[in-house]
Formats: sequence, C-alpha cells, structure tokens
Amino acid sequence: MTVDTAGVNVGALMTTLRDRIETQLGAVLENAAPAQASRLEEAMRYSVLGGGKRLRAILVYAAGQALAADDAALDAPAVALELIHAYSLVHDDLPCMDDDDLRRGRPTCHRAFDEATALLAGDALQTLAFEVLAGTGQPRAAEMVATLARCAGRAGMAGGQALDLDAVGRQLDVEALMAIHHHKTGALIEAALSLGALAAPSVQPVHLQALSEYARAIGLAFQIQDDILDVTGSTEVLGKTQGADALRDKPTYPALLGLEEAQRRARALLDQALAALTPLGERGETLAAIARYMIERDH
Ligand code: IPE
Ligand code: IPE
Ligand code: MG
Ligand code: MG
Ligand code: MG
Repeated sequence: MTVDTAGVNVGALMTTLRDRIETQLGAVLENAAPAQASRLEEAMRYSVLGGGKRLRAILVYAAGQALAADDAALDAPAVALELIHAYSLVHDDLPCMDDDDLRRGRPTCHRAFDEATALLAGDALQTLAFEVLAGTGQPRAAEMVATLARCAGRAGMAGGQALDLDAVGRQLDVEALMAIHHHKTGALIEAALSLGALAAPSVQPVHLQALSEYARAIGLAFQIQDDILDVTGSTEVLGKTQGADALRDKPTYPALLGLEEAQRRARALLDQALAALTPLGERGETLAAIARYMIERDH
C-alpha cells in the first residue's frame, strides 16, 4: 500500500474511488434497463460490471479532486469514461479485431453471448456514455461531450485501433508505434484527465498544462506496460490470454525494441509524468501514486 509524503493512504483512496465508480456504474446500468432484461442489456452489464481496474474513472476523480471539483460533478464523466472503455474492449476482442477469448478472467463478450450481440453491446455502451454525460446539466457538459467524442473517435481511440490493425505483420518504426499507442490507448486516458478538469470550478492554465503533459506520458506508458505484461505476465493474473500479441503479430514495444528497452521507456515516461505534476505541488500526490501503480502493476 502506498502512503505518500503527506501521510495520505493512496491505496485506500483508490479503493474508495473504485467502490464509488462500481456503485455509479451499477446504478446507470440498472436504470438503463427495463424490468425484463434483454440479451443486449445482459451483454452490456456483463461487459461493464465484470471487473476491471477502473483506472480511467479513478483518473477522472483524482484530476477533479486535485482541482477542487465536487465528487458529485465527477460521477458522470467517470461513468462515461468507463462505458467507452468497456465498449472499446468488447470490440477489440471481436474475431475481426484481436480475436480474444478471455477478458477480465471470463469469456469475452462475443464468446459469452454472440458476435452480433457483442457488436451491439459496444454500440449501445458508447451511446449510453454520451447520454449520461449530456444529461448531467453541468455547465460544461457540451465541452465534455465534445472532448470525449474527439478522444474516442477517428482522431483518438478508434483511429488508433485502425492503425493497430493496419500494422499487423508490418515492420514499423518506433515513431509509428508510438503514434498507434498514443491514439488507441493514450487518447482515452487524456480524456479522463480533461473531463476531470472540466468538472472543476476554475483551473489555472499552468495546472491544465501539467495535467495534459502527465496524461500524455502515462497514456503511452500504460500501453507499453500492457504490451510488456503480454510477454511477462500470466493468463491467470492478467485475466486475458498471455502471449496473444506475439501469436497475432501485433505491433508492440517488446516486439519492436525488446523487453528491456520497452521497460526502460515505460520507466522514463513515468519519470516524465511525475515531473509534469510539479506545478500542482501536494495536490498532485494522488495522481503521482496512480501513475506509479499504472506502470508497476502486474495486471
Ligand atoms: C486494457 O485496459 C486495454 C488497454 C488499453 C491497454 P485496462 O488494463 O485498463 O483494462 P481493465 O479495465 O483493467 O480490464
Ligand atoms: C487495446 O489494446 C486498446 C483498446 C482501444 C481497447 P490491446 O488490444 O493491447 O488491449 P488488450 O491487451 O486486448 O486489453
Ligand atoms: Mg487491440
Ligand atoms: Mg486486444
Ligand atoms: Mg494488449
């Protein structure tokens, strides 16, 4: 458990935030369903409520708290991020994409249900995210919607997924691989920090800049660590099939640069993220601990 210099138990704080987002997600998915759950609704609940580290939601709360936002104003953005993330995983696992059978320690959505249901569950999770965000009536809801849409769409996650698929079996240089990772994974992590900031009453430009640099560094580092764990992790701990990237010739840091260089780069990006938080002073301590967790995690 991490205890920061101010004596705050960051491990306990992360657990509290994780509990909060679980409750929020449960409530949104219950409300979204009619009394008789359809196969589509079951698949949506299966994909969202079946575990996950909830890091994007935790980042929304941590960024907002660092800037004195109310927790209540952070719930909708945190839910929206996790819904978009869950949709991205459901589609990422489909046979036409990474073709994976295991996710969060259970059969992937299309395995537990069927491909068409998984496709539609992803679609409906995505639209639900925007419904939740737009429905809050917060002063900056429209900006939040636009930011999340941009980060999830063609210039963000979906665009990155297209580049990722296009790269299979091809030799890339590290700049091209970095661009894939910034888009497919970094963009939603950047969205989490941006939405947290948009929920705050007012933000100094220097703090916004700090969060943006932090997000860009940890976004890339997080995907590098995901690539590393595909090599060094175990299926049991990961909850997804170890070695799946190599099997499918996916574009990854260890494949391109070797394991040690990939680890060195993840570590350097962590240092960059921590340095970026300097202007926030003590208010950046939770974000610093989350960054360390994101790079030192084993699943
Ligand atoms: C997995 O994300 C997909 C990537 C972008 C690397 P997470 O590792 O955050 O997945 P969950 O939500 O904890 O299952
Ligand atoms: C996922 O990257 C990026 C997404 C947008 C979902 P990966 O394909 O490496 O994620 P995992 O390893 O299947 O979780
Ligand atoms: Mg993928
Ligand atoms: Mg995948
Ligand atoms: Mg992966």
